[in-house]
Amino acid sequence: MPFNHHFDIPTGITYLNTPGNGLLPRSTRQWRTERDNAFFDVAGKLRDQQPAFIQEVRADIADVFNTDVQRVFATPNFSFGFTTLLDRLPRTFKYLLLNEDYPSLNYPVISRGLTYRTVEVNEQLENNIRNGINEFRPDVLLLSIVQYVNGIKIDLAFIQEIKRAHPNLLIVGDGTQFLGTEPFSFDISGFDGLGASGYKWLMSGFGNGFFMISERLEHLLNTALDERPLPQEAMWSSKTIIQTFFEPGHQDTLSHGSLSQSLRFLKGIGLHEVKKHVETVSTVAYEELARRDLLLPSVANRSIRSSLINIQIPPSCYSDLTDKGILCFPRGSGIRVGIHLYNTVGDIERLIEVIDTYR
Ligand SMILES: Cc1ncc(COP(=O)(O)O)c(C=O)c1O
Repeated sequence: MPFNHHFDIPTGITYLNTPGNGLLPRSTRQWRTERDNAFFDVAGKLRDQQPAFIQEVRADIADVFNTDVQRVFATPNFSFGFTTLLDRLPRTFKYLLLNEDYPSLNYPVISRGLTYRTVEVNEQLENNIRNGINEFRPDVLLLSIVQYVNGIKIDLAFIQEIKRAHPNLLIVGDGTQFLGTEPFSFDISGFDGLGASGYKWLMSGFGNGFFMISERLEHLLNTALDERPLPQEAMWSSKTIIQTFFEPGHQDTLSHGSLSQSLRFLKGIGLHEVKKHVETVSTVAYEELARRDLLLPSVANRSIRSSLINIQIPPSCYSDLTDKGILCFPRGSGIRVGIHLYNTVGDIERLIEVIDTYR
C-alpha cells in the first residue's frame, strides 16, 4: 500500500507542514478513540495501570532508537525534558550553542545566566563547531539535529567524530525536527542527551515527548544527586532519582500511548523505508527548487540535507498557498515545508505549479 494510504488526507490538501506538526496515521487516531473510551469507562481498570503503561512507552522509544529503557524518560515535550536536564547540570558549565537555534534550546541557557557562546549556522556548520570547541572549550555542545528555520542538518558522523575527539564534552541534542525520518541509534550516536517532542515527524500528536541519556550522563546526574535521599513512599519506590525529576507526576497515557502507536507504525514500515521514501520525494523537491534558484545558498551548497526546506519565496505567499490547499508555514526569509512519509512526488509537482505562478 502506498504510504499516504495510511493517512486520512482530504482531496485538495497538500500537507507540507510537518515541521509545524505532523499527521497522525489512521491507526494511531483509531487507537486514541478506542483508548479514550476504555480509559474513562467507569468500571474500567486502565486508570489504575498508568505506571505500567508508561513503562511500555519507554520500552517502545528505547526499542526504536536503540537504547536502554532505563535511560529513557517520557516527558510532555522536548522543552520540559531539556530544562529538567539543564537544571541538574553544574552552573559552572559552559555551553556552545548554535546561533538562532530553536528558542527552547538557547533561551533556557541565556535566561539562567549560564556561560555560553554561539557559532554561526551556515554551510560550514561542522567547521564552525570544531573551531568553537577548540577556542571556547565548552562543557556542553547543544544543538538541534535539524534547524527549524533553514533545515540545515548536522552531519551525524561529525557528532560521533567530535565525541571521539572530546570524550569529556557533553553533546546534547534536539531531535524534534529529525527523529522519525530515518533510522537512528542513540547509543552509538555520540549524543549524551537527546530529546524530542512527538507531534512533528513522529506523527504522535501533542503532549508527548522523551529524553534519552547516555550512560555517562546518567552517571554524572547520579553523582550530582548522590547525597539526596530516594523517595521513601511505597508508591514511588520503583522510581530512580533521575526519574523523579524527568517524570515527577502523573503522565497523560493517551498522549504517550499515541507516541507508542506511531513508533510501532514507523517500525512496522521500517525507518529504512521511511528514509528511502523521504529522500526520493525530497530529491525531486530540491532539484526543482534549485533549478528555480529558490534554495537558501547555505543549503544549496551542502551535501547533507534534511527533509525540511525553506523555500525562498516571500513569506507573504503563505495565505495564497494555504488558500490553494498547500499547507506550509512562513519562517525566516521564506516559506517552510517538510516532506514526510505521506508526501508524494505529486505533492511537489502541485507545490511547484503554484510557486511558478508567483514568478
Ligand atoms: C527544533 C525544535 N525543537 C523543539 C521544538 C518543539 O519543542 P516543544 O514541543 O517543547 O515546544 C520545535 C518546534 O517547532 C523545534 O522546531
